Amino acid sequence: MKRKKIAAGNWKMNFLPQDVDQFIETFQPNTANAEVMIGAPSIYLERLLALKTKGVQILAQDVSIHEKGAFTGEVSAEMLAALGVNGAIVGHSERRTYHHETDEIIGQKVNACLRAHITAVYCCGELLAERQAGHQEKVVEQQIRVALSHLTKEEAVKIVVAYEPVWAIGTGVTASDEQAEEMHAFIRQVMSAIWDADTAAQIRILYGGSVNAANADALFACPNVDGGLVGGASLKVSDFTSICQSANA
Ligand code: 13P
Repeated sequence: MKRKKIAAGNWKMNFLPQDVDQFIETFQPNTANAEVMIGAPSIYLERLLALKTKGVQILAQDVSIHEKGAFTGEVSAEMLAALGVNGAIVGHSERRTYHHETDEIIGQKVNACLRAHITAVYCCGELLAERQAGHQEKVVEQQIRVALSHLTKEEAVKIVVAYEPVWAIGTGVTASDEQAEEMHAFIRQVMSAIWDADTAAQIRILYGGSVNAANADALFACPNVDGGLVGGASLKVSDFTSICQSANA
């Protein structure tokens, strides 16, 4: 099963409007054989829609579990869809840590995206202490089962999973190709048990955690690594363009 690779940027809380405009002007990714996505602060989403003409998909970095109403500060999936935004990152470890998001809540965010027909990029991954204790598979399996196992097969193939070991995020410490492949193969096995092998074979699993222009080729060449979710390196046009090129290979 050939899965189209994805190079997805997660800008987190970076850039001022002029930086966004400069990025839009200069970013010219190859989207011939790969999907390119950028996850941006919600205030910049409308401005970034200009990149859709270059084949880039635009993601929010979070979404509300609610459809509408008295939820100050929240943005609904329906609003994103109506604006032309393609999807949302959900369950990023920074939201889990700083906003106490649980897999139950994140599962509802996935549902909100599915209801609005936008792509959910579901993030999971273990903490350093959990890997040091050898519990990484148990932790990630639990995250996936709690957040995603209620989905039908038809829904499951629409989501994207991002494995982001927390110890590799923003640290400059990347998982080795072997560690990434091992976990991605394990995640696919878990998804195969939840749905079936054919469904699991269709779901893209991205690696995130200190991906850069120098290590993307080798990471994306791993059989179960279907691209990357890129933080710091997605803020530099030249680096992110190179990472997009790695996804095209
Ligand atoms: P870095 O690429 O900066 O390590 O961040 C990874 C990440 O959290 C992407 O969502």
